[in-house]
Amino acid sequence: MLSLRDITKRYPNGTQVLQGLNLTLEKGSILGLVGESGCGKSTLARIICMLEDFQGGDICLDGVSYRKLKVQERRLVRRRVQMVFQDASGSLDPRQRVFHMLQEPLRNYESLSRSALQKRVEGLLKAVGLDTAKAENYPHELSGGQRQRVLIARALATEPEYLICDEPVSSLDQENQERILALLVPLLKAKRLSCLFITHDISLAARVSGGILVMRAGKIEEERSACAAGSYGEAGISC
Ligand SMILES: Nc1ncnc2c1ncn2[C@@H]1O[C@H](COP(=O)(O)OP(=O)(O)OP(=O)(O)O)[C@@H](O)[C@H]1O
Ligand SMILES: [Mg+2]
Repeated sequence: MLSLRDITKRYPNGTQVLQGLNLTLEKGSILGLVGESGCGKSTLARIICMLEDFQGGDICLDGVSYRKLKVQERRLVRRRVQMVFQDASGSLDPRQRVFHMLQEPLRNYESLSRSALQKRVEGLLKAVGLDTAKAENYPHELSGGQRQRVLIARALATEPEYLICDEPVSSLDQENQERILALLVPLLKAKRLSCLFITHDISLAARVSGGILVMRAGKIEEERSACAAGSYGEAGISC
């Protein structure tokens, strides 16, 4: 379980983004987080993934406080909690081939032979519905939907337990959104991943998640229930 209590965040320029935010993500569940632009969703996502610090409050992962982690334990949390970023174009290094991007997180945490790496990368590409030949491509040689699939594959590389998805489909057209969601949600369920699904689209949150938190001005303002199964991933069930 991931639990955030009274989180506050102020940027060095004085912007107070989070103001006593509380949130609990249960194991194996998909929780939607919606809120208008600028309310602090991405900041919150980066804090959960340890890409940014916070001032007040605490985050506990299965009862262990972020504030008490030693260096090795921080590494382990980073491995267990991964992020799918908002903007596929901006989040992929234009000078790196897909193979390089996917093998990097693997090499950070495991010592694998070249052939084992190759196999794992191919497995990741297949898991997100990409041809293994795409490993040789640079980001600009991929479509928007394919880039988003690479981002998902990269987040899955370390075999995380928690996935923080920050607007994972908002840069895509409707058709590609549907395709990526039809891939992502069953994948989350099959792997029993816990997911915070961030979006500004409340109807989308209702389709994918079991519950929805509404964020406003750096706080959770409201909690709404959604269809527990969601309309993705379980054929025939629709909210
Ligand atoms: N590095 C930074 N330094 C200073 N202020 C920042 C920084 N990053 C974000 N902010 C500010 O923090 C606030 C929240 O930004 P954030 O990106 O978390 O919002 P968001 O809810 O994800 O918005 P969107 O829906 O547009 O993605 C904004 O006012 C933004 O300008
Ligand atoms: Mg954002």
